[in-house]
Amino acid sequence: MTTLVLDHVTKRFGGLVATNDVSLAIPPARITGVIGPNGAGKTTIVNLITGMLPLTAGAIRLGGRDLTHAAAHEVGRAGIARTFQNIRLLREASVADNIMVGFHRHEAVSVTASLFGLPSARRETARIRVRTQALLERFGMQRFADHPAGALAYGHQRRVEMMRALATEPDILILDEPVAGMNDVEARELGDIFEDLARSGMGIMLIEHNMRFVMRLCANIFVLDGGRLIAEGPPDAIAADPAVITAYLGI
Ligand SMILES: Nc1ncnc2c1ncn2[C@@H]1O[C@H](COP(=O)(O)OP(=O)(O)O)[C@@H](O)[C@H]1O
Ligand SMILES: [Mg+2]
Repeated sequence: MTTLVLDHVTKRFGGLVATNDVSLAIPPARITGVIGPNGAGKTTIVNLITGMLPLTAGAIRLGGRDLTHAAAHEVGRAGIARTFQNIRLLREASVADNIMVGFHRHEAVSVTASLFGLPSARRETARIRVRTQALLERFGMQRFADHPAGALAYGHQRRVEMMRALATEPDILILDEPVAGMNDVEARELGDIFEDLARSGMGIMLIEHNMRFVMRLCANIFVLDGGRLIAEGPPDAIAADPAVITAYLGI
């Protein structure tokens, strides 16, 4: 089982403790929420998991594998993909090309094979096209395949980011505020896709401000405040937890 585990993880930026002794688990086949007020340390945790920031203390494991000191590309190859809170796309490139970039984790064919147009390279390219098409269909984005990604509406750009992350066929998908700025209909459509992915076995870590969305989708929720874990549990318990209410109302 490929559960992602954070074991007493701490991250200091100078005098600021952005992540303070946090332990949590993201199991396969369900959606796990990570919530907390702005500045709680949610994105920092994602950056620690994905090898974009070094830990100050603690350990990170995926299944039996130690990823504590893994570089970003190693984390990707190990089966963890993410989206960014601020969209990062190749704006001039087409939607389809942006998705195909995500497939590089699985590119088995050598650069020379593809340079010489060998059949193995052609087969690989054809396979990637088919999988890109399948992702476009899943997200209802076929009609935008050839559009420049940067020209799309915000909600559609977010979808492209998700498709690119999914192209790596990750075991764990980390979504940093995926429905921020979206309306309820768009959010619900994406929520349905996330549930589908979880049903297919993927472990999803969902960071989100939209409480209704988190409560509806998540089996288990971790709450951060000031870098510390202040609560963990199913949605009902979290919604009724006095420490969580205090953190959100600031009283
Ligand atoms: N690279 C960095 N250098 C210094 N401080 C940072 C850095 N990244 C985040 N922080 C600080 O860490 C704290 C947590 O930030 P962040 O993880 O982005 O919170 P959240 O995603 O929950 O809003 C904030 O006080 C933020 O200013
Ligand atoms: Mg953040």
